[in-house]
Amino acid sequence: MSTLGNVGVIGAGAMGSGIAQVAATAGHPVFIVDAFEGAAQRACTRITEGLRKRAAQGKLDPAEAEAIAGRIFPCDSAEALPECLVVIEAIIEDLDAKTELFDVLGRTQPATTLLATNTSSLSIDQIAPAAAHPGRVLGLHFFNPPPAMKLVEVIRGEVTSPEVMDTGADLVTAWGKVPVRCASTPGFIVNRVARPFYGEAQRLVQEGVADPATIDACVRTAGFRMGPLELTDLIGQDVNLAVGTSVWRQTNKDPRYQPTPFQQNLVAEGNLGRKTGKGVYTYAADGTSPDNVPDQAKVAELLASGVLTNPVARTLAMLVNEAVDLVDRGEAGSADVDLAMTLGTGYPKGPIAWGREIGFTTVRDQLRELDAAFPGGRYRPSPALDKIE
Ligand SMILES: NC(=O)c1ccc[n+]([C@@H]2O[C@H](COP(=O)([O-])OP(=O)(O)OC[C@H]3O[C@@H](n4cnc5c(N)ncnc54)[C@H](O)[C@@H]3O)[C@@H](O)[C@H]2O)c1
Repeated sequence: MSTLGNVGVIGAGAMGSGIAQVAATAGHPVFIVDAFEGAAQRACTRITEGLRKRAAQGKLDPAEAEAIAGRIFPCDSAEALPECLVVIEAIIEDLDAKTELFDVLGRTQPATTLLATNTSSLSIDQIAPAAAHPGRVLGLHFFNPPPAMKLVEVIRGEVTSPEVMDTGADLVTAWGKVPVRCASTPGFIVNRVARPFYGEAQRLVQEGVADPATIDACVRTAGFRMGPLELTDLIGQDVNLAVGTSVWRQTNKDPRYQPTPFQQNLVAEGNLGRKTGKGVYTYAADGTSPDNVPDQAKVAELLASGVLTNPVARTLAMLVNEAVDLVDRGEAGSADVDLAMTLGTGYPKGPIAWGREIGFTTVRDQLRELDAAFPGGRYRPSPALDKIE
């Protein structure tokens, strides 16, 4: 018998199933609810099969695999959940659906139960008021797939209590994850700070500086595993555009996040990336892309050029600017921003550490040059670049 508290998971899709597995692996009895008949049961079966497969591959003790699977139960509805330590919501990304659910959870769970949302783009402040005792509502933003990804953004809304933030962070730490704390700001840390990584590469193509393969190759020289354009093909141009557009709208259409015609055209034409066989690049059946061939002479030329045409300098300046601004607004701490970007997106270095290396005043001067060349606010330097150490 487990002595750890019950965990409720609502939504038995990709994220809910993964989160359920993480909590059960840590020793909690886990109850999964899904609105679709049979979906919770199917998720339990899928998780069990996955655990058994890992055991067969020698990656997990077979008895442990059975013990974890034995702690996961389907449950008919949110109302039917037993009393839980925490309930984590991972349903469809729709505010009405989520507020309806938090209303039910607020009425049926004890006032001490943490109520968490895994939302990627909605504000905690829009969801929390739906629940009784909204101070116990927080974001626990896992990354896909939850069993493999270490990072969890722990998000505070306006009324989330500090104790609830501490409990949330401690809980995910006990689950083997690394928590970073953030205010409920559009995109939180990762989806906000990463925006210019994609946006600058798209703009460089639009400006005719070089072809996509050459720009990707330039950016990889800075230690990124994939270039921005090939990465958006992997993510899906539609998914990446939707995240960017959501951040742009939620920031009152701040030009920093304005979607590019380059990406909008790809999506409009159905060139969504690997999943459709064509995105920025074309993909053969074996996953290779014959048109992803950089011009090496051009790579060397661009890397030796000034910030306007240098994909590395331009991308890093914008990443540093974004990170510094987030910290300056008090939305997250520097160490958490760097942890989030290295663990959540696999960047070789955190943007604050990178800024320190490049020099924050150098970054400011690069942005001033960009701002002069492309006025309109996208490249405005964060005022904090002058004061950060
Ligand atoms: N997929 C990702 O990479 C990712 C990463 C982080 C966060 N998220 C967020 O996690 C949440 C779930 O995403 P997903 O990719 O797992 O989606 P999904 O579509 O794979 O799963 C959602 C599940 O919720 C169920 N559902 C829908 N409405 C419901 C309701 N009212 N009550 C109970 N169940 C309901 C659906 O039947 C489905 O099984 C979303 O808020 C999403 O923004 C997704």
